[in-house]
Amino acid sequence: MASYETHEFDVIVVGAGGAGLRAAIEASALGCKTAIVCKSLLGKAHTVMAEGGIAAALAHVDAQDNWQTHFKDTMKGGQMLNNWRMAQLHAQEAPERVRELERWGAVFDRTPDGRILQRPFGGHTYRRLAHVGDRTGLELIRTLQDRGVHQGISVFMECTVARFLKDGDRVTGAFAYWRENGRFVVFKAKAFVLATGGIGKAYKITSNSWEYTGDGQSMALEAGAELLDMDFIQFHPTGMVWPPGVMGILVTESVRAEGGILRNSLGERFMWKYLPENKRAEFAKNESEAKEWLADHMGGRNPDFNKRPPELSTRDNVARAIYAEVKEGRGTPHGGAYLDISYLPEERVKKKLPSMYHQFKDLADVDITKEPMEVGPTTHYAMGGIYVEPDTGANNVPGLFGAGEVTAGVNGANRLGGNSLSDLIVFGQRAGAGAAAFAKSAPAPAFKDEDADKVAKELVAPFEGKGEDPYAIHRDLQESMQSLVGIYREEKDMLKALEKLQELKKRHETVRVDGSRLYNPGWHLAWDLRHMLRLSEGITRCALDRKESRGAHSRLDFPKMDPAYAKHNTRVRLVDGQVVVDRKPLPEMPDELKKLFEEKK
Ligand code: FUM
Repeated sequence: MASYETHEFDVIVVGAGGAGLRAAIEASALGCKTAIVCKSLLGKAHTVMAEGGIAAALAHVDAQDNWQTHFKDTMKGGQMLNNWRMAQLHAQEAPERVRELERWGAVFDRTPDGRILQRPFGGHTYRRLAHVGDRTGLELIRTLQDRGVHQGISVFMECTVARFLKDGDRVTGAFAYWRENGRFVVFKAKAFVLATGGIGKAYKITSNSWEYTGDGQSMALEAGAELLDMDFIQFHPTGMVWPPGVMGILVTESVRAEGGILRNSLGERFMWKYLPENKRAEFAKNESEAKEWLADHMGGRNPDFNKRPPELSTRDNVARAIYAEVKEGRGTPHGGAYLDISYLPEERVKKKLPSMYHQFKDLADVDITKEPMEVGPTTHYAMGGIYVEPDTGANNVPGLFGAGEVTAGVNGANRLGGNSLSDLIVFGQRAGAGAAAFAKSAPAPAFKDEDADKVAKELVAPFEGKGEDPYAIHRDLQESMQSLVGIYREEKDMLKALEKLQELKKRHETVRVDGSRLYNPGWHLAWDLRHMLRLSEGITRCALDRKESRGAHSRLDFPKMDPAYAKHNTRVRLVDGQVVVDRKPLPEMPDELKKLFEEKK
């Protein structure tokens, strides 16, 4: 083996968002020598884009709330494709994980009697989101970062893991490069936790920043892992649509939770038209009921659940509604919908939504206390990801664990807002514990030297490439995924997408990068493209296989939900280097949990 800088730990966490930090804190607290390796700066993670809150049945403002209701809301939001055990653990453990954050220094907004304040969000029966204005993810990251650093976790920042190395079946190493100088580095560990987040950068309009290229899912596939339900991509209903340079940046759901009203260019409050027939009873019937609900919510009284504003429908539904209004010619000048909160007192808007106020003022020259925002759907989150065992976060590949957005299971076909921050801390803690337990009985890590050399060779190949630069390939990929495998899908488009992906893969084989390995974003993108192309194929093949509409997956050619698709997850594997899709039966929910759904009936 060429001589590479080498580091060895018991547990290495790849990714430094909420899930990665929480996993590392746990593994380290359990006595494991632990490191975090992250391609960006510590704390710069998509976690901060979960702005509106952490869903946890603390029952501080709606005393009736409990884990059972949170569990049912999550399963229903996910159209029952969730892993029931993950949804159960998530609902049961989220309150304690939130209290733990508070003990570790997180400063939440407060009820008048000093408890953690909770706000409503789409699909949650009760006001359940513990929050810090509209900066909740940031506070979560800040808290975990402080905790982790003080606990002595080693951190390797701006260091991209390119591929896992194995000893037989088991993952034992990771080959990486320093982004600054391009030098290679090898990590050895008894257990690895993947917490690399999503794949939003495969799409043109996204709330995700440059880091989110599906590295974790793709490297896991290469290592032999199963991925589930990659077709379920969440399009958050409200991203910025103007100016072009900030298109896709998130406009938190808290705007709607705090009274934001969606209107089309005719001034119509259109969401009433789009409420699913079987859900209408759960929403206000008219403006005056919606106003009553808001007045109660703002006044600290208990609002009637069945008078919620229609804007608080689930994300999949609101995103489709805005898309339809624009498509049918009732969009705003820049192709979105109006989101208006300017009718509320200025002080309240600034207090509840400080980041939104500055975001629009600084980036779009819009004062949201005086005029409406223009918003439209943005690719936000991947519900699918690597398979993990619910209690331990273990993948089917020994030595590999996962937590957070990189994994599948808790969210099913659609995630409720606020369930991602709670997912990160519940399953981050569990994956950290799972990895620590594994590491304690695992032999010392080893791998073949030539496997490391092989990655090094593949990594530098683009410097000899004779084809085009990676930016052109990336642009074409984003265009294709956005237009052919977006909010609405149909077979003919997705077949076109597969053809396009084959063409892009071919072009990628000869991708060319100029310059040296010294800080070279083009070279980094050339490698990231391998991941994005592979996963885009996984997303498209899963979406083709699901001949129905469910949650975030909407097929124009199969507009209804089909019970035949309710009993399995769609599984993705890499077989002889090819992306292969088949079906995996959903685990059966135990009777005591099934009963919860019957009681409601
Ligand atoms: O809209 C938001 O604040 C996002 C929250 C989430 O994705 O959980």
